[in-house]
Amino acid sequence: MDKLIITGGVRLDGEIRISGAKNSALPILAATLLADGPVTVCNLPHLHDITTMIELFGRMGIEPVIDEKLSVEVDPRTIKTLIAPYELVKTMRASILVLGPMVAHFGYAEVALPGGCAIGSRPVDLHIRGLEALGATIEVEGGYIKAKAPEGGLRGGTFFFDIVSVTGTENIMMAAALAKGRTVLENAAREPEVVDLANCLIAMGAKIQGAGTDTIVIEGVERLGGTRYNVMPDRIETGTYLVAAAITGGRVKVKDVDPTTLEAVLSKLQESGAEVTTGRDWIELNMHGKRPRAVNLRTAPYPAFPTDMQAQFIAMNTVAEGTGTVIETVFENRFMHVYEMTRMGAQIQVEGNTAIVTGVQRLKGAPVMATDLRASASLVLAALVADGDTLIDRIYHIDRGYECIEEKLQLLGAKIRRVPG
Ligand code: UD1
Repeated sequence: MDKLIITGGVRLDGEIRISGAKNSALPILAATLLADGPVTVCNLPHLHDITTMIELFGRMGIEPVIDEKLSVEVDPRTIKTLIAPYELVKTMRASILVLGPMVAHFGYAEVALPGGCAIGSRPVDLHIRGLEALGATIEVEGGYIKAKAPEGGLRGGTFFFDIVSVTGTENIMMAAALAKGRTVLENAAREPEVVDLANCLIAMGAKIQGAGTDTIVIEGVERLGGTRYNVMPDRIETGTYLVAAAITGGRVKVKDVDPTTLEAVLSKLQESGAEVTTGRDWIELNMHGKRPRAVNLRTAPYPAFPTDMQAQFIAMNTVAEGTGTVIETVFENRFMHVYEMTRMGAQIQVEGNTAIVTGVQRLKGAPVMATDLRASASLVLAALVADGDTLIDRIYHIDRGYECIEEKLQLLGAKIRRVPG
């Protein structure tokens, strides 16, 4: 298993390009299964999770064509089996996203119950109940979700999400695109990735209104066609590099980003004392050598502060001036990084879903272990400001969500290297 060794203490300075959004690319790849012709998805990030989705397509008999720029062309007409097997699904929870498109287009789907990041129990009941609202019959048997469309295909319906779910909204929106009649999704997720997926579906011929609000209305169409679609920039990768600049007192300009998707994060960075300048597709953060001030925050569905940035802000608070309170409301058990940071000298108290972080002058390098995707990014951030070397084990979690993290950080001046293990 590869490890990262980071020598802390360098003030980051430079410019980098941000990749396409993983959380948008995955549902958009799944949406290609709805088409009657080839769909080309561009600006895909080079990540393990994307490779897993492509491998999953391969298992189903679809051979995506990948060009050198990592644009992927999928022609779902070659599908041979409607089963998403456990060996692949267990490594990536987002595999559940193929369930809605398969049952809508082909009338049947078998998808293993997912594993994925170990952050709370993360059930899939809303995905199942949402598809049932469109007329699907679903059985959970032997660790698999077996979904069958009624004679004549799925039909529109109304579904209220009692918890806001991003992939839940995406799954049902995709299925509804090919269902007969009108579907209304209430208390839908408003994340920019839901909007990006809706825009891709619309480019394929779907009739969708209200994506980005909590009520999405879908008029089902007979068929969806091929298209070429560019995935939006990754707002979590963007936010992570901005925190890297802030935590080291440095200056970083991120390019090919969409600043309008990061309002809650940028406002917290400003509160920490950073100077933030934005353009149409770039953001520059300059800390002017200062130590950040601690910030209080509470995670919640978009447009509030994203849970996927919680760990990175805890890292910043560990070396900030003052005490910051971080409340996690989206997932239970999403504080594993806290215990690893404590090994580096951080002062953090966890009480239920609240972490109280008292900034220390310096962290100290230590061997630590990555436990999930965003937790591992936060350990990299902590290591950038720790005295001496930090060895981060189990970095396969990072490779699931951050394209070329060590190359990008090296470009900004960080001392980071990967050691094969
Ligand atoms: C997506 C993102 C993930 C992000 C999360 C919250 C992708 C591929 N992943 O995950 O990076 O951290 O949104 O912004 O887009 N829940 C249920 N029943 C369900 C589904 C969800 O109770 O059927 C609960 C979950 O346990 C959680 C909450 O709903 O407490 C939100 O989860 P959800 O939005 O579904 O997360 P994901 O879509 O899996």
